[in-house]
Amino acid sequence: MNNFEYYGPTRIVFGKDTIGRLPELLPADTRILLLYGGGSIKRNGVHEQVGAALAGRDFAEFGGIEPNPDYETCLKAVAVARERETGFLLAVGGGSVLDAAKFIAAARYWTDGEPWNLFGNRGAGIRRALPLGAVLTLPATGSEMNKNAVISRRATHEKLAFVSPHVFPQFSILDPATTFSLPSRQIGNGIVDAFVHVVEQYMAARDTSAPLQDRQAEAVLLTLLEEGPKTLANPTDYDSRANLMWAATCALNGTLACGVPGDWATHMIGHELTALYGLDHAQSLAVVLPGLWRHRRETKRERLLHYAARVWGLTDGPEDERIEQAIVRTESFFRSVGVPTRLSDYKLPADAPQRTAENQARRGVRIGEDQGIGTPDIEAILALQWR
Ligand code: NZQ
Ligand code: ZN
Repeated sequence: MNNFEYYGPTRIVFGKDTIGRLPELLPADTRILLLYGGGSIKRNGVHEQVGAALAGRDFAEFGGIEPNPDYETCLKAVAVARERETGFLLAVGGGSVLDAAKFIAAARYWTDGEPWNLFGNRGAGIRRALPLGAVLTLPATGSEMNKNAVISRRATHEKLAFVSPHVFPQFSILDPATTFSLPSRQIGNGIVDAFVHVVEQYMAARDTSAPLQDRQAEAVLLTLLEEGPKTLANPTDYDSRANLMWAATCALNGTLACGVPGDWATHMIGHELTALYGLDHAQSLAVVLPGLWRHRRETKRERLLHYAARVWGLTDGPEDERIEQAIVRTESFFRSVGVPTRLSDYKLPADAPQRTAENQARRGVRIGEDQGIGTPDIEAILALQWR
């Protein structure tokens, strides 16, 4: 097992009717800026619940944060936070609103040129951020309990991530009932995103010297396989929605990463697809992952066989068949929750594999757990998903 350090300072308040806990979670006598997205919280009653909990508090609102939050929108919110001498950011929404809050929190105190520079060295230069908390309405990203944020800059076709311990939410409220209003497309997206978060940490080429982390990862994967279809079939079944919500948080709250290498190449390539063609985050992952596993079949052979056995019960027959079956079943699962897995499903132009690889090449870094993926590999991975 590799050396590791684990730090997880976010208080999770989980369950029915928990938005009312906001007054005790928020710091006293601080100016709050409530951040939200395109208006779903106004339609499903969450805005009303948050407003009631904030009665008597000094707060302002900033709405209109888009899915795949845009840099320019975030800069407008930074200006508001500065003008109003905001002391605390409250994100109410999905991963996009949460990530925007993290970026705004760090950009508020950024002094080294334009705030886009804070993505340099993946956020290592961030020294200070506004404190923040969240009311999560979409199970998917794990942003509610982690230190990552991903921001898009549409003007330059970029989508970049940073990581900083300064942007851990102080608390996140997770009331599964707030997610009943989600369209099935977003539920399916959340299932696929959480699934891929787990395998990015579980499937890096390595020996199997971390059995606890392996089984924790498998627990999340099997829960997603069981509860995902259930919650799609019965969107207001509280228990299956609650199980999905907690599984998505556990998929990327840092515990599965302890002592093991991460891959993250599927995410890196997926971000380029979103930056160029606007695919939903999970759609991009559903396209990349099967191609990446087929392309890296030899490097990941042991892990693919392990995954085939533990997650899909494939223990007999020739190794290559077991691996192919595991990939085929993964793809079928993604499609069964409404997320297509072929580039052609999204009607992208024929040169999409090449353009995506070129866009990633601008970063000047090789990707994957062993930096084993370069520009030609990205093109080859996507070409495999062209059918
Ligand atoms: O904007 P509103 O009107 O709120 O609508 C949103 C949005 O249109 C809607 N929605 C959210 N909660 C709802 C709801 N609609 C009805 N009822 C509700 N309860 O859903 C749409 C998508 O929301 P978004 O926040 O964009 O989705 P998600 O949570 O999947 O976040 C995606 C973003 O997170 C990043 C992605 O790259 C993408 O930018 N990620 C962040 C990560 C992290 N911070 O650790 C890791 C991930 O890998 C991912 O990269
Ligand atoms: Zn993701």
